[in-house]
Order: sequence, then C-alpha cells, then structure tokens
Amino acid sequence: MKKNIVNINRINEILKKTIDSINKGKEEIFDIAESARKECESIRIELEELKEKVSRLVKEVDVLEIEEKNSRKKLMVISKNFKFYTEEDIKKAYDNAKNLQILLMLKRQEERDLINKRRELEIRLINAEKVLKKAEKLVTQVGVALEYLSGDLSDLSETIEDMHKKQLLGIKILKAQEEERQRVARDIHDGPAQSLANVVIKTEICEKLLDIDANKVRDELKNLKNIVRESLKDIRKIIYDLRPMSIDDLGFIPTVKRYGYNFSEETGINVEVLVIGQFKSMESIVEITLFRVIQEALNNIKKHSKAKNVQIKIETTLKNIIVVVKDDGIGFNVEKKLKETNVVEGGFGILGMRERVELLNGEFQIISSIGKGTSIIFKIPIDGKDD
Ligand SMILES: Nc1ncnc2c1ncn2[C@@H]1O[C@H](COP(=O)(O)OP(=O)(O)OP(=O)(O)O)[C@@H](O)[C@H]1O
Ligand SMILES: [Mg+2]
Repeated sequence: MKKNIVNINRINEILKKTIDSINKGKEEIFDIAESARKECESIRIELEELKEKVSRLVKEVDVLEIEEKNSRKKLMVISKNFKFYTEEDIKKAYDNAKNLQILLMLKRQEERDLINKRRELEIRLINAEKVLKKAEKLVTQVGVALEYLSGDLSDLSETIEDMHKKQLLGIKILKAQEEERQRVARDIHDGPAQSLANVVIKTEICEKLLDIDANKVRDELKNLKNIVRESLKDIRKIIYDLRPMSIDDLGFIPTVKRYGYNFSEETGINVEVLVIGQFKSMESIVEITLFRVIQEALNNIKKHSKAKNVQIKIETTLKNIIVVVKDDGIGFNVEKKLKETNVVEGGFGILGMRERVELLNGEFQIISSIGKGTSIIFKIPIDGKDD
C-alpha cells in the first residue's frame, strides 16, 4: 500500500515536470519566432535605406557621365585648335577631364558595391522570412499540441490526486475499523464482561448463604438484578453504537428525529427536522447511508461550526431522496479545507460522506463560506440506481 502511494506521488511529480518543460519549450519557440521577426524588420529597414542610397548614386553617376563627356569634348576641341589656347588652358582642360574620369570610375565602383550589398540583403531577407514563417507555424502547432497535452495531463494528474486521496481514505477506513474493534472489545471487557464476572461471584455467595441467611440472599439477589439490568443497558448501547437498530425498528424518519433530539440535548444546538413529500421505506443500504451522512454532518457541526441552529430537510421526490443539512455557524472555505486532507490530521469525514453517497450513484455537494454557515446537500436515487 505504502509503495503504491510513493509511486502515485512520483507519477504526479513526473506529470507536473512534463507540463512545465512543454511550457518552457513553447516559450523558447516563441522566442525564436520573435527574434526572426525582429531580424526581418531590421533587414527591411536596412534595405530601404540602401535602395535610397543606390538611387541617389545612380543620379550622381548620370550627372557625372554627362560632365565627363563634355570635358572630353572640350579637350578634343582644344587639342584641334591648340593655337588659339594658352598652355595653361590646355593643361586645365586636360586635368579637368582626367579628374572627372577618376571620379566617375570611383562612383561607378561605389554603385556596384552598393548593388551587390543590396542583392546580399535581399537574399538574407528571403531566408529570414522563411525562418519566421516556419517558427510561426511551429508556435501554432506546438500551441495546439500543448493545449491537448496539458489539458489531458492535468486531467490525469487530478485523477491521480483523487486516486491518492481515495487510497488515503482506504487506509483511514481500515484504521477506523481497527479502532472500532478495539473500542467494542474494550467496552465489552470493561462493561458487561466485568459485570458478568461479578454476577458469577455473587451467585456463588448466594448459593453459600441460601441455608444460612435468607434475608441476605434476598438483598444479594436484588443487587444481582440491578447488575444484570445495568449490563443489559450497556450491551444495548454497544449494539446501538455499532448499528442504529432503530432504523429497522422505528423507521428512518423517527430515527433521524430521535438522533436530532439527542444531539440537541447533548450540544444545546437547536435541531429542526423537516420532511417534505411522502417518505417511503427504502432499501436498507440507502437508509443506513442517509443516516451515516447526516450523522457525520452533525458531528462536524458539533466539532467545528459554532452553530446555534441546524435544519435537516428530507425531501422525497418520485425517484430521489434529497437531504439538506444546514447550519448557521462559522462556515469554511471548502476547496481549501479539502486540499488539506491527509492521514495524520484526518479530515476524512467529508471525503467519506461523498464516497458513501457516490457509491449509491448519488450526488454530493457542500455550500459554505466563512461567516455564512454550511449546507451539506446530497441526493440519492431511491432504488439505489441512476435515474
Ligand atoms: N459545518 C461545518 N462548519 C464549519 N466548518 C466545517 C463544517 N464541516 C466541516 N468543516 C471544516 O471542514 C474540515 C473537514 O471536515 P471533515 O469532516 O472532512 O474532517 P474533520 O471533521 O476535521 O476530521 P474527521 O471527520 O476525519 O474526524 C473540518 O476540519 C472543518 O474545518
Ligand atoms: Mg468530520
């Protein structure tokens, strides 16, 4: 049993880690997509700037080509008519043509470089866009997969947690059974067994006194009758505690009413039992379940609620019996409390109530909040089957 609990804890841990790492993976893919998007954006900006530069340069080259052509023409005219020009003029025209030629060559080189760079950027952009597209597709796919997976996994981990709690409940039930046996044994040992031993001694005394002192014998017999009567009471109490026979003898509703009355006497909490509809006697297992759940609800009210008033409403419909046990006490945070259930500290009362009701295909619900009292509501099909 212990080994199983450890295994379930371990599986639970593995499931949690798996969901965590899937989530992390999703974040990483998201990061990749994000940086691909940024890369595309910056390449586009760079490309835009480059295109502007290229078009400026093309215009400059155009202008320069015309200037250079003119300078060559001028040089030709001067060389043909060099008699009309000074040496200074010739040198100037020559230098000018040569400078323009060099400048043009440089600009053309620059233009070629820029165009190459533009081509390079365009290729990079195409590749980055491909990565981006892939990453975006992956983000969507992983998102869908994750939704399926983490949905199922967390369902599974809830189921496992539920199983775990049921296991704990099983242990608790076994422990409670053992304690109950010990208690009954102790009750019989301390009560009736002791008394019967006493009875044996006293009858022996009577035997001996019979011929000597008839009056003394009468007293002893009276004494004996009291002891036997007390023992009978003790035995009846032990039997009642084991199983409220009165359900069979008195019927369910009178038993609940009597239990409510005794509870009220013992605790000072006012109990009202309200019966709605025609209550018919049901299968014994249904009646005993209803009684045990009401009993645990009242136990909790006594132990925890600080209530002044309790109402037990028992409503019979065609197919179901619906019971509401409502108190006006301090209330509690149901979800939080149920999470705290463990073997050491207990808190199996509610779990046990739910388990009993669900075993008979019933429904169980607690409505409570701090300061607003508590209602335990449960519904069980009368014939013990689903409707
Ligand atoms: N009527 C109520 N009013 C206020 N608090 C309640 C009421 N019923 C239950 N609780 C709270 O819910 C917790 C769980 O109840 P549950 O019956 O499961 O366990 P328990 O009574 O503490 O222990 P056990 O029943 O195992 O002896 C209680 O400890 C208490 O804090
Ligand atoms: Mg309890």
